[in-house]
Amino acid sequence: MRSSRLEDEVRSLQAQLARAQRLATVGAVTAMVAHEFNNILTPVLNYAQMAQQGDATMREKAIRHALEGSQRATAICQALLDIARNNHQPIRKVNLTTLVEETLTTMGRDLKKDGITLITKIPAKLTLTLHAVKLKQVLLNLILNARDAVLEKGGEKKISISAVRNNDIIRIRVADTGTGISPENMKQIFEPFFTTKQDNGTGLGLTISKQIVESMQGRLTVRSQQGKGTVFTISLPLRAGRKKKSSRRQD
Ligand SMILES: Nc1ncnc2c1ncn2[C@@H]1O[C@H](COP(=O)(O)OP(=O)(O)OP(=O)(O)O)[C@@H](O)[C@H]1O
Ligand SMILES: [Mg+2]
Repeated sequence: MRSSRLEDEVRSLQAQLARAQRLATVGAVTAMVAHEFNNILTPVLNYAQMAQQGDATMREKAIRHALEGSQRATAICQALLDIARNNHQPIRKVNLTTLVEETLTTMGRDLKKDGITLITKIPAKLTLTLHAVKLKQVLLNLILNARDAVLEKGGEKKISISAVRNNDIIRIRVADTGTGISPENMKQIFEPFFTTKQDNGTGLGLTISKQIVESMQGRLTVRSQQGKGTVFTISLPLRAGRKKKSSRRQD
């Protein structure tokens, strides 16, 4: 009885930590988002002025561009709010391509603008049944890490996000051509607070991501070659939201 109460407390603390990490990640992308908003809103403002002053043809064009910019700003806000809200959302069937697109929108900034080529290879109809926010949090952590690694290394910068279904398991891979991880660091990357980022790392991203994936009966694994790049693989059951039957002893 006492041990089950302890287990409940541990689970509750893990959930609180995951929530705090998710909000910290949202905080970390805010600077990128603010920068992007400036890039979106400055032309929107110019187009609105053009619409006020120009002839009918110019007005039509200006309004269309202003509308496109406003829609993109709204999509970024929506994606950010989705991930910032807590995960009281029900477990539901989600399309993986849409989920990845929404996660990328959360970052606000297009990877292309930093010279990063993004390749996504996800079967169009691939779906999973889970808490979407949880998977978004994990993907956001992995993509932000991949972004840091390719920007640090320089040269050809590539991030690939792919997924395959193998019977009832879905494997999602986030691969990058970044710095790679040394064998020494590899032993510690999933440890809480381990970071090699001087000013901007809390060292919680991977710890929490692993915990989240395991809470969905999945696994988070990594392969890396120093100087060449890194591949993280999330393996999840198709119905990752379903709870395992409790095997806890009732003593
Ligand atoms: N794709 C990657 N390429 C190279 N190194 C990586 C990669 N992903 C993680 N690492 C290494 O693992 C460390 C721990 O990553 P983790 O995401 O847990 O923390 P962080 O990125 O340092 O900080 P944050 O808590 O803000 O995410 C990183 O500091 C980095 O050294
Ligand atoms: Mg990180």
